[in-house]
Amino acid sequence: CGIVGYIGPKNALNVLMHGIKRLEYRGYDSSGIAFFENGSLRCEKAVGKIAMLEEKLSGNVCISHAGIVHTRWATHGTPTFENAHPHFDCHNEIAVVHNGIIENYDYLKLKLQQNGHTFRSQTDTEVLAHLIEEHYRDNLETAVMEALKKVEGTYGLAAISSKDPEKIVAARNGSPLILGIGDHEYFITSDVSASLEHTREVMYLDDNEIAILTPEGYKTKTIQNIPTYKKTEEVLWNIDMIEKGGYKHFMLKEIHEQPQALLNLMRGRVDGNHGPIKLGGLINREKELLEAKRIIIIACGTSWHAGLVGEYMLEELVRLPVEVEYASEFRYRNPIIEKNTIVIAISQSGETADTLAAMRQAKGKGAAMLSICNVVGSSIAREAGSGIYLHIGPEIGVASTKAFTAQIAAFYLFSLYLLLLKNKDYAIPPEMISAIRTIPDKIQTILDREKEIGEIAKIYKDTNHALYLGRGFNYPVALEGALKLKEISYIHAEGYPAAEMKHGPIALIDKNMPVIFIATKDSTYGKILNNIEEVKSRGGKVIAIATEGDRKITEKVDHVFHIPETSGVLIPILSVIPLQLLAYHMAVLRGCDVDKPRNLAKSVTVE
Ligand code: G6P
Repeated sequence: CGIVGYIGPKNALNVLMHGIKRLEYRGYDSSGIAFFENGSLRCEKAVGKIAMLEEKLSGNVCISHAGIVHTRWATHGTPTFENAHPHFDCHNEIAVVHNGIIENYDYLKLKLQQNGHTFRSQTDTEVLAHLIEEHYRDNLETAVMEALKKVEGTYGLAAISSKDPEKIVAARNGSPLILGIGDHEYFITSDVSASLEHTREVMYLDDNEIAILTPEGYKTKTIQNIPTYKKTEEVLWNIDMIEKGGYKHFMLKEIHEQPQALLNLMRGRVDGNHGPIKLGGLINREKELLEAKRIIIIACGTSWHAGLVGEYMLEELVRLPVEVEYASEFRYRNPIIEKNTIVIAISQSGETADTLAAMRQAKGKGAAMLSICNVVGSSIAREAGSGIYLHIGPEIGVASTKAFTAQIAAFYLFSLYLLLLKNKDYAIPPEMISAIRTIPDKIQTILDREKEIGEIAKIYKDTNHALYLGRGFNYPVALEGALKLKEISYIHAEGYPAAEMKHGPIALIDKNMPVIFIATKDSTYGKILNNIEEVKSRGGKVIAIATEGDRKITEKVDHVFHIPETSGVLIPILSVIPLQLLAYHMAVLRGCDVDKPRNLAKSVTVE
């Protein structure tokens, strides 16, 4: 979900609608706005995309100087008009927008109903509006603080009230909120991009913190009413980085940004031909890293796939035992964390609720924490305290692309960094440095041949199923390729370790089943050729991703796409690119909304 609040001299409606459109990728099943109009509160809501809400507001001549707006991705209650935010108290005097989940909302709702409150929606958020009403004495901030003392769960919320006009009160616990400080104007947003057009100066609210915004200025304090004094930070991303930059979709733009993204990731971090590798975010963590006996990687979705590559890489290069866990599973087990275990959380957004909860679980058991995140100042990055930022600019397309390749590159630098840390006399072989330095150009040569993938996509666009097979480093790539396809084209796709095919998926193979083999020249190449034969002999259609110059494979398969040669551990960065493009083109040909696939959200800030 997305939140924007504005108070200041400009026309609030324009600012709010502009801001919320930038957050549409965070949730888009309904939206709503509340603002002051001649001293009273006015609200509009709409089901569907934000354009629907805009339509409702068109022709509005009122000039308002404060308001809040929300775009929703349903958690409690279906996407309906009633369930769209903002939610109100009984007298329509308090409006609340909220991200997160109120866990004790059943109990609170019952209590409030017993006190005479009537509810209009099935959402947990409406409880907040009534609870604030219940505690309202003489100002909004005290009512919010009192109400929140009763609440269990997560929230990033913003409230306004006609009883206390010219004020926005915002609070955070577990769901991000950012205070934007402009020229006599103030913003509260769930993502910096929403206020970036107006200001670069921001403050990240902490858990259990509230912010009070008025035309005169802002205050922050804890929910216990203790003032907090925070430093402002400057956002380095600019608005151009957020726009589509001439591409039809954010996803396509982000696929094409990968060469530059990896250059950005490496900037200032790779020196000379033998190192050193400079990872400033790991300063002061050398001791723990030196003593590390085991690494556990936790993540969700695409980040989890990058974690699998990280596992293979760290084991191969650093010889450290690594396990990769789904954060959602890890958090509800009773995992064994021995001394000298380092837990690395991987997250593009840095806000994935399960990953954050798993980190807290690991931290509670004494693990040292690191993170690999893209979004600076995000909850996961801050929870870890140290780590590696990707520095690849915002990723907006729901299907993650550049974050995946950057996460793998980050693991590579991390592996080299550990090697140097552990062996003082070690000199990284120059070919290991040049392998990563040449990767951006190699990605570019693949992108330049996008058309070839487009042709393959045309042939298979009507398929209902697809199978992705790979071995070794390309096994996670098979998983990622299948995930990309199902996310955006709604084609059922499965990724499998190629040899496991015999234990089940082979039963699915017939002449209608495209099988995508990632069959690059590495240690398992010979084996994968056998797997290709097994599929061909059962009539399957084979698309192979192969290494440049491999003519042998061309004779065996229906289609082949060649990628440049590179060092084994870095192959996934190259082999995934054609699969990203294949998913993209199949989805476009099927008329799917690539950047906003149904039922998915970019940042899953709920469990
Ligand atoms: C969602 C997104 C995926 C992403 C996953 C993990 O499911 O749609 O693209 O891989 O969350 O997100 P994170 O921000 O933690 O990497």
